Amino acid sequence: MKSRPVHAVAFLLMVAPLGASAADTIRLSIDASKPGSKIDRNIFGQFAENLGQGLYGGIWVGPDSSIPNTRGIRNDVVAALRELKVPNVRWPGGCFADQYHWRNGIGPRDKRPATVNSAWGDVIDTNAFGTDEFMDFIQQIGSTPYVSVNVGSGTTEEAAEWLEYMTAAAPTALARERAANGHPAPYKVGFLGIGNESWDCGGAMTPDYYVSLMKVYSRFVLNMNPAQRKTDQMLKIAVGPGTPNTEWTEAVMQAWKKHTWAWDINGVSLHWYTVPNGWPPSTNSQKFVQGDYAKSLKSTLFMDQFLRQQEAVMDKYDPEKKVTLSVDEWGAWHAPLPGTNPAFLFQQNSMRDAVLASLNLNIFARHADRVRMANIAQMINVLQAMILTDKEKMVLTPTYYVFKMYVPFQDATFLPVTFDAGTYTHDGVSLPRVDAIAAKAVDGKLLLEITNLDAESPVSIDAALSGITAKVARAETLTGAAVDSVNTFESPDSVVSKAVAVKLQNGTISLTAAPRSVTVVTIEP
Ligand code: AHR
Repeated sequence: MKSRPVHAVAFLLMVAPLGASAADTIRLSIDASKPGSKIDRNIFGQFAENLGQGLYGGIWVGPDSSIPNTRGIRNDVVAALRELKVPNVRWPGGCFADQYHWRNGIGPRDKRPATVNSAWGDVIDTNAFGTDEFMDFIQQIGSTPYVSVNVGSGTTEEAAEWLEYMTAAAPTALARERAANGHPAPYKVGFLGIGNESWDCGGAMTPDYYVSLMKVYSRFVLNMNPAQRKTDQMLKIAVGPGTPNTEWTEAVMQAWKKHTWAWDINGVSLHWYTVPNGWPPSTNSQKFVQGDYAKSLKSTLFMDQFLRQQEAVMDKYDPEKKVTLSVDEWGAWHAPLPGTNPAFLFQQNSMRDAVLASLNLNIFARHADRVRMANIAQMINVLQAMILTDKEKMVLTPTYYVFKMYVPFQDATFLPVTFDAGTYTHDGVSLPRVDAIAAKAVDGKLLLEITNLDAESPVSIDAALSGITAKVARAETLTGAAVDSVNTFESPDSVVSKAVAVKLQNGTISLTAAPRSVTVVTIEP
């Protein structure tokens, strides 16, 4: 993770230039009679690693804290996250997962050993936030656990016992230990990550070595919760690539093709960060110029090409698309905010991050037949976070509002949108001027998302609807005064979503999308 190859930025979403001036209208057509794949709610997943103040300070303050909490977990953070209907949370890492020994984090907190978090800054870890605290957090926000087990420095036995501790209903010794720790009922574990970045921080393994371990972990690390035996089964996610090459996915998928009754996997992961200048990340997360904005968006759009490349390999072995491509780390990785511990990966979050979040979510929606899971990195106080905290203070980031606006897209059905995106060019970087997706929500409403990438000019949108009789339309938009607008503890509402005017006439939706904005239109049939 520390010395990745420079990201290729030469790949761009190909969009035919429209030659439109800023005043021109961009016309979209949405056909509601041609439903595509389900946009799995799990693509709106989050990632909470034991890193910096992601857990400690961000989620966990302890029951004796003066910060209002429920059993040690911050009430303000829980309330904000509940609004996002977070479908799953990946924990405890990341690189940290391959160094985590779960037994350090159970039982009376005053008896837990202090350990060193050697993945992130060598800080002392009190282990106060362990398995039962994580599960409590998951229940408080109404989500599903995605637990990554330690393949790098752990054993199959250790991981199998952890799963037994979490999921056994029968009175085994480990289930009784969980009950003694105050949790008689087994937990549900929705997803199991078999290692993390095993080609790098997870143990610098070769693909073949990893595949051998993956099979053994898949065979023996079992979910024992009776409620998850037939339905609601735990999905096992194998490690996949973090750079655009196919060797790793080939090895995992080739093995999967020959899997037997003894083992199986349900997903392969992929990690892709927006790091426009290559590693180490050097972009400022606040106070930057339009050229940086354009470069970041261009780098983010590479996600589409990376997914296509991996999907081509997966399709070869799995044309029925049984195995999910799980983008379980994505987002903008900027330089650490000056004055903060660089190992804590703390950065500000601006309107640029909001736009690049919507571009990524739209890409995932277009790949919904294969990409059925994704986790933004990360949830609180780390990288492209939803929430920033400082002791008792909390602020919601522009990215938070994007996730909030996209909630109706969870489990919606993708609908095709055709449009000529036009071009936005700055400092020699050319991008589509507009991006858009549409979907039919689970409640039957039609949803249209429009991202105006243009940093300076508004764009008029006319969206013609077919296959639906639209009666009412309303829209909500997120924009900021500049591409580097941020929310701060002193000024928390600089970038918040607001209602915006939309016209519905003769089956056409018309609106003006502000520069650098994310808009969601809800249309009632
Ligand atoms: O999200 C931060 C780190 O990035 C994760 O721990 C690791 O998996 C990746 O390299």
